[in-house]
Amino acid sequence: MLSHLTQIVRSVKTTMLLASPVTGQLVATMTKTILDPASSTRSFYFDKTDDRVLFGDIRENETHLLTNNQTIKIKPDMVMDFRDLPFENNKFETVIFDPPHRFNLSSESDFIKKYGSLDRETWQDDLGKGFTECFRVLKKGGTLIFKWSEVSIPLKEILKLTNQKPVIGHPTGKRMGTHWVLFIKDNND
Ligand SMILES: C[S@@+](CC[C@H](N)C(=O)[O-])C[C@H]1O[C@@H](n2cnc3c(N)ncnc32)[C@H](O)[C@@H]1O
Repeated sequence: MLSHLTQIVRSVKTTMLLASPVTGQLVATMTKTILDPASSTRSFYFDKTDDRVLFGDIRENETHLLTNNQTIKIKPDMVMDFRDLPFENNKFETVIFDPPHRFNLSSESDFIKKYGSLDRETWQDDLGKGFTECFRVLKKGGTLIFKWSEVSIPLKEILKLTNQKPVIGHPTGKRMGTHWVLFIKDNND
């Protein structure tokens, strides 16, 4: 009953968006096969305007000057919250999930400007909901690529937040603390 109501609310939200001035943009996003709901500056993309990807973020439009004088811009195709994604079930072929992985240092730090931060009180709930939502909107048999840096929390603690089973994972970086983890959504989910 609750999940039926949630689907109705989502479809009403989508209809309201379709009726809004951003209709053209929304229609364009309907053809995308890859979702990145927390894309920030899109730093790991070969093509930052790759038209197969729907770039999302909770931040609508931010420009920051970093201490090395580099200017960064966060401007997603669509503002979204990975804890409550505005899409139907089983929509995307691929989801790329790279959430914040560090507790807040200072909102002025370059790191936070680029990558955002985890809330000390709610991070488990936030990331658990993020996994649930990313897998919900992923097609059955679809691929989810998860990136995690073990700056504040070990990967094994994070993997407990989803009941999906990872296929492979690979540590990278100077301290081997950044992990790329591949999941395939079960056909029965
Ligand atoms: C680690 S960064 C992503 C870096 C990105 N993959 C890149 O290549 O530049 C995490 C991003 O998640 C965003 N974020 C934080 N909470 C979010 C939420 N609830 N929903 C969507 N995005 C969120 C932050 O604003 C930040 O831009």
